[in-house]
Amino acid sequence: MIFTVAIDGPAAAGKGTIGRALAAHFGFAHLDTGLLYRAVGTRALDDGRGVIDPAWAAEVARRLDPTDLEGPDLRTALAGQAASKVAALPEVREALLDFQKRFARREGGAVLDGRDIGTVICPEAEAKLFVTASDEARAARRHAELGAGTLESVLADLRARDARDAARDVAPLRAAGDAFLLDTSGMTISEAVAAAIGHVRDRI
Ligand code: C5P
Repeated sequence: MIFTVAIDGPAAAGKGTIGRALAAHFGFAHLDTGLLYRAVGTRALDDGRGVIDPAWAAEVARRLDPTDLEGPDLRTALAGQAASKVAALPEVREALLDFQKRFARREGGAVLDGRDIGTVICPEAEAKLFVTASDEARAARRHAELGAGTLESVLADLRARDARDAARDVAPLRAAGDAFLLDTSGMTISEAVAAAIGHVRDRI
């Protein structure tokens, strides 16, 4: 069976948690596409050039291997910022397109979460969710998760990243017209997951 669940939304809105829960519930494969950009961003910075060179970042993206998507260094705020910088480069997005498109249409069902899944990677997805939460709720969650920095610095970091993701020319962060909007601000994880499962179940 081919069935794609596309989850998009700003940073720390709950996409990953909901994506993993949906994949486990329906027995689908799950891809956190943010990790692709985080891996390219950290590797493109790691070579010591300091600033990100677009041609080099695209080369890193073309050479990316699935085993590069692991490691705690990819979860840091620094990796998030580097990710959103390389994510604005058309050559980088192009290099990562094919892998994501094939993952979305793999046999057995797939859940992908990111910023452009329902709009660019898989506009034909059978189920689309746009997961949001207030800036304050997202910052509080990410702050608890990171266990580092002040709440204010985490909030500023999220806002900077969202602004860059929404303002870029290629594949900007936005909800697909046919996406189900899920605002998780006042919800517990299990309430948000239950709402997402209900939406997907109606479409299978
Ligand atoms: O989801 P996560 O916070 O890990 O994503 C890190 C960054 O990668 C985002 O801020 C965004 O710039 C970029 N990204 C993207 N498209 C995706 C997934 C992530 O541009 N599908």
